[in-house]
Amino acid sequence: QTIALVGVPTDIGAGHRGASMGPEALRVAQIAEKLRARGLDVVDRGNLHGPHNPWLPPVNGYRHLAEVVAWNQATHTAIYDELAHGHLPVMLGGDHCLAIGTISAVARHCREQGKKLRVLWLDAHADFNTATITPSGNIHGMPVACLCGNGPAELVRIGDHVPATTPDVFRQIGIRSVDEGEKRLVREAQIVVHDMRSIDEMGMRSTMEQALADMDGGTHLHVSFDVDFLDPIIAPGVGTTVRGGPNYREAQLCMEMIADSGRLSSLDIVELNPAFDKRNQTAKLAVDLVESLFGKSTLLR
Ligand code: ARG
Ligand code: MN
Ligand code: MN
Ligand code: MN
Repeated sequence: QTIALVGVPTDIGAGHRGASMGPEALRVAQIAEKLRARGLDVVDRGNLHGPHNPWLPPVNGYRHLAEVVAWNQATHTAIYDELAHGHLPVMLGGDHCLAIGTISAVARHCREQGKKLRVLWLDAHADFNTATITPSGNIHGMPVACLCGNGPAELVRIGDHVPATTPDVFRQIGIRSVDEGEKRLVREAQIVVHDMRSIDEMGMRSTMEQALADMDGGTHLHVSFDVDFLDPIIAPGVGTTVRGGPNYREAQLCMEMIADSGRLSSLDIVELNPAFDKRNQTAKLAVDLVESLFGKSTLLR
């Protein structure tokens, strides 16, 4: 199967500039070459295009709504197209608002192919905010809510179906920063959250066993990897660091167990921000972990 890299160079939904440089940082860290060295077939589609970041305050609770819509429409089309051709799309973000475009495309593909969808949301944040409760207006804090139908009509309608998907497909892992109003919505929607407290108590192994349970040959597994999932000690190159995330070994185990499931069918790599990074180390770490996601292992078997 062909892996198709799709760069989406924008920070339109973020609270800091710089995630727009994420796709190039991942290329400089040799994401394509490293995956090819594993014997995988990789094509780099280059970058999508969209409006520049006007850097304005929120309007009715949203920053840059029109621009976020434009970028997500382009992303939806490109990712849907890759899936329709049988490829495995890897979206190189870009900030996390772009998951509205990718996951709506994946959900549409699943409906058409009669597949079940599972989304692993690897993140420090739940990204379940709405216009009324957001502390920032930044739409990268809202993609899960939008995908579940709770958001502005223009974003909820990206794709062919409203809502694009439902809360039960999500498994959130690594969560440790949820805003007060957001907590209530996450609870009401009954999203399955493996927060850091739960990972501390039961370990990454049991966490991933649970998150990957009940999948079969008819399941499409999408991984939405927000790089701020990782502990900032190892991954400083993001705009919204939250201390107390998975360490290197825990992150590797997480990725290796996803690879072992054999179900990975699409991937987002988002929120990488080279402006906060040092010598591209966070991009290199992300690529190292993505290699594990595609089967690299230290196991001697
Ligand atoms: N909850 C905060 C907000 O809504 C932070 C969201 C961070 N999201 C992200 N994808 N990094 O502004
Ligand atoms: Mn092909
Ligand atoms: Mn996120
Ligand atoms: Mn995050």
